[in-house]
Amino acid sequence: MRTLLDLVLKDSTIALRCDFNVPLNAEGEITDDLRISAAIPTINALRDAGARVVILSHLGRPEGVPVAQFSLAPVALRLSQMLGFPVHFSPESAGDLSLINELEAGEVALLENVRFDPRETSKDLEQRRELASSWAVWADGFVSDGFGVVHREQASVTDLAQIVPNAAGLLVARECEVFEQLLKGAERPYTVILGGSKVGDKLGVIESLLPRVDNLLVGGGMAYTFLLALGLEIGESISQPNFVDDVKRFISQAHDLGVNLMLPVDFIVANHFSEDAHTMLVDRDSIPVDHMGLDIGPKTCEMYSKVIAGSATVVWNGPMGVFEMEPFAGGTLAIASAMAACDGFTVIGGGDSAAAVRILDVDYEKFDHISTGGGASLEFLEGKKLPGLTVLEGK
Ligand code: 3PG
Repeated sequence: MRTLLDLVLKDSTIALRCDFNVPLNAEGEITDDLRISAAIPTINALRDAGARVVILSHLGRPEGVPVAQFSLAPVALRLSQMLGFPVHFSPESAGDLSLINELEAGEVALLENVRFDPRETSKDLEQRRELASSWAVWADGFVSDGFGVVHREQASVTDLAQIVPNAAGLLVARECEVFEQLLKGAERPYTVILGGSKVGDKLGVIESLLPRVDNLLVGGGMAYTFLLALGLEIGESISQPNFVDDVKRFISQAHDLGVNLMLPVDFIVANHFSEDAHTMLVDRDSIPVDHMGLDIGPKTCEMYSKVIAGSATVVWNGPMGVFEMEPFAGGTLAIASAMAACDGFTVIGGGDSAAAVRILDVDYEKFDHISTGGGASLEFLEGKKLPGLTVLEGK
């Protein structure tokens, strides 16, 4: 994989792909800017080397049409504040030539959401190529630094990289180094904690992790499909019964491989999905039929925390409960705190778990790596080839 040192940067205009797909609240305000701050070292390295930096990014899934809610204008503002100087904003996702031509060395521009253009995510290579070629008119080089999107085959991720000289940015290089290490030689005992709502999204990663880990701890909404596989009553908890057979296979595979696959033993349940619902703490074999599990309970937190404390490598992806609501945040906070206190190498897979750490106010500095990739980090852990990385290895 080429690095920034392999590109001619001085007096060049560099198209920099970032992943500024940041969470927004109902008022359209950015609630977590990890993905913006993570891009700053590469932006500054390019500026220091005398490049003009034009950033491409997506936000949300606007499906090829401009949607005000997904405009990158607020990101341009936040980025300006973080960099300490104004970032030019182009309302054209294909790039406004007059704006780009007027940039001075060291200046930075951000183009409007690339997914406002249907060619960005088109399945038709010709259409994607056409959009990528419109960027190549002004781009002397392409730097890939949007780790969160490297699992996508899209014009600004894979196609532009094939038209102009390309290199990995500092963030992509660091993320690859960490995940490569996890994939090839994680120090043992190796513990992975998986949560989040849907087990269906994690089948591939569970399959590929089982032969490589010592402990696999399950929480979040996906745990209830495991309970179904054990023949337990889950009341109104979220589940995916169509994956029960896969889950049964994982349970027996873990047993055969000697992997410690742990499931929650207790839960905080509620009579409806709301912060002020009536809640109860129950063992896993006593979930009432008219209640739903919304967090793991304290016995589970204690068991999981002990395993984490004794691990040399810990990777966590997916919250343990509905952490956005205070009564159901305890499990996620317990896992984050146990990881923060762990002496081993600790990695937070991006997306919701990274946001949870920030929202629950656990010190970011206590983790060895907080990934900016959600789906991308899972696919990397699964051992899949990611098109946005493969393209950086080609000629
Ligand atoms: C993410 O948030 O995982 C990335 O930005 C990719 O977004 P996508 O799943 O909409 O492609």
